Amino acid sequence: MPLQFLILNFGVTLKDLENKQGQANFPHSSLRICETGDGTISLVNTDLKESFHNYAGAKKEAIEKFIQPSEIHLYEKQRTICVLDICVGMGYNSACLMDVILDTQLFLNWWGIEQDKVPLKIALSNNTFRSTWTNKTLCLLEMLKQKSQWKSTFGIGKILWGDARQKINDIPKALTFDLIFHDAFSPQKCPELWTEEFLQNLSKKLSHGGKLITYSRAAAIRASLRRSGLTLKSLLTTSSSKNHWSNGTVAIKNYQLPSQLPKAFFCTSLSEMEEEHLKTVAAVPYRDPRGTSSSNEIIKRRNEEQKKSNLLSTNSWKKRWVGTKS
Ligand SMILES: C[S@@+](CC[C@H](N)C(=O)[O-])C[C@H]1O[C@@H](n2cnc3c(N)ncnc32)[C@H](O)[C@@H]1O
Repeated sequence: MPLQFLILNFGVTLKDLENKQGQANFPHSSLRICETGDGTISLVNTDLKESFHNYAGAKKEAIEKFIQPSEIHLYEKQRTICVLDICVGMGYNSACLMDVILDTQLFLNWWGIEQDKVPLKIALSNNTFRSTWTNKTLCLLEMLKQKSQWKSTFGIGKILWGDARQKINDIPKALTFDLIFHDAFSPQKCPELWTEEFLQNLSKKLSHGGKLITYSRAAAIRASLRRSGLTLKSLLTTSSSKNHWSNGTVAIKNYQLPSQLPKAFFCTSLSEMEEEHLKTVAAVPYRDPRGTSSSNEIIKRRNEEQKKSNLLSTNSWKKRWVGTKS
């Protein structure tokens, strides 16, 4: 859920943090800590020029874009919820989820994939981050950092360190997920985790009625998810994102209309504007047939496919909808 690199002047450098917290030598010069609108901290990747969270608030974003659409209250008591967090990073999405589930009579079977150990290390060395969570959740995050897994009366958790494209194969074949959080950097910066092939692999990992939740509303991503057989819903905007037309996507396997009206609505069917977006050149997918292509190769492949595409022009789509939403 990255925001383009507009916000660095409220950043504190990693050096500042190391000096402040006495933590020596994090191996990254490319990660900078920044404070966000809700008082929680985030990181900016200065190489990619993208932040981990949006300006309005790291925790706020995790709640609005991942936890609320998870609708944890709908699960039967005593049930185990299986959750896969793709791109754990500092751990906000899962920490928010743990805080919620620890307050229920549910159990958690949690899996995470992340290629870099440093964001979680930085987060857990920061007092603001630590004060964001209950002691129990903090304890689970600490165990993930130290032992890559946790076990408690409330469930089990395991993090797989490495490239998600390969690490996904280390998850037991029989295990399917009620919830998959997909929170990679944006498709233009990290196309390898938004390809048709990777999204298809994730879709196969969903259980009946399972939901893949992402901040992305990109046409290419939505079109790939739909081709994977999932039903698309658009995440409703919130007060902090009212200038956007969607807060993201919830893609559901074997979707069935709910038997009763939900207490609160977090997502809705795609609007006419969003459906039309999927008929434009923007919907040409990112492709990585062998799961080993570099970002540049994937982008280049897509640019070439877009040039040859007979799909509608995305500019015309934008013009047609100008004045409705930006
Ligand atoms: C937008 S941040 C995730 C934010 C995170 N959910 C949080 O709450 O802090 C993207 C994360 O993706 C990780 N990443 C990038 N490429 C990856 C890959 N191929 N496989 C696994 N993780 C990857 C980065 O190290 C980074 O931590």
